[in-house]
Amino acid sequence: MERTFVMVKPDGVDKGLIGEVISRIENKNLKITAMKMMKISEQIAGEHYKEHVGKPFFPALMRFTTMGPVVAMVIEGPNVIEVMRKLAGATNPMEAAPGTIRKEYAMYVTYNIVHCSDCVDSANREISIFFNENEIVSYSKSLEKWNELLK
Ligand code: RTP
Ligand code: MG
Repeated sequence: MERTFVMVKPDGVDKGLIGEVISRIENKNLKITAMKMMKISEQIAGEHYKEHVGKPFFPALMRFTTMGPVVAMVIEGPNVIEVMRKLAGATNPMEAAPGTIRKEYAMYVTYNIVHCSDCVDSANREISIFFNENEIVSYSKSLEKWNELLK
């Protein structure tokens, strides 16, 4: 099953939106297979966002990502990378579609509540920064079995 890395960013934790983000994931019947709250170091933040090193917004992104706790998660489901990016909405909340997390809860491009991996390679890379494989739980949900009946 496809996996993605999702993180409630420090602004989302500070605004009390952990539950809101998790509810949206659960409402889509996606599977949470790992989750932890942590305050991340500069080194982990830099590793996580390394594709943005050198960009004008990188220093602000580093300060933001390390300024308070985050909730890191591994989510599994069919096409989960695209599904989570759609739930989050466009990077700039002002351009995000109605109903998305970023449209409803964010105002600024930096402080945009949630991170979601953008492709399979990023997902695998990011998951390995935050989790050991033995922290990722394997279990099945009823709908997965029901999906088998449709085949
Ligand atoms: P993310 O990686 O956090 O899921 O966000 P994304 O794919 O939608 O956007 P990305 O281009 O990867 O940017 C990473 C994060 O950097 C901050 N950012 N600030 N112009 C700016 O000031 C700017 N551009 C990006 C945002 O926090 C963005 O989510
Ligand atoms: Mg990104």
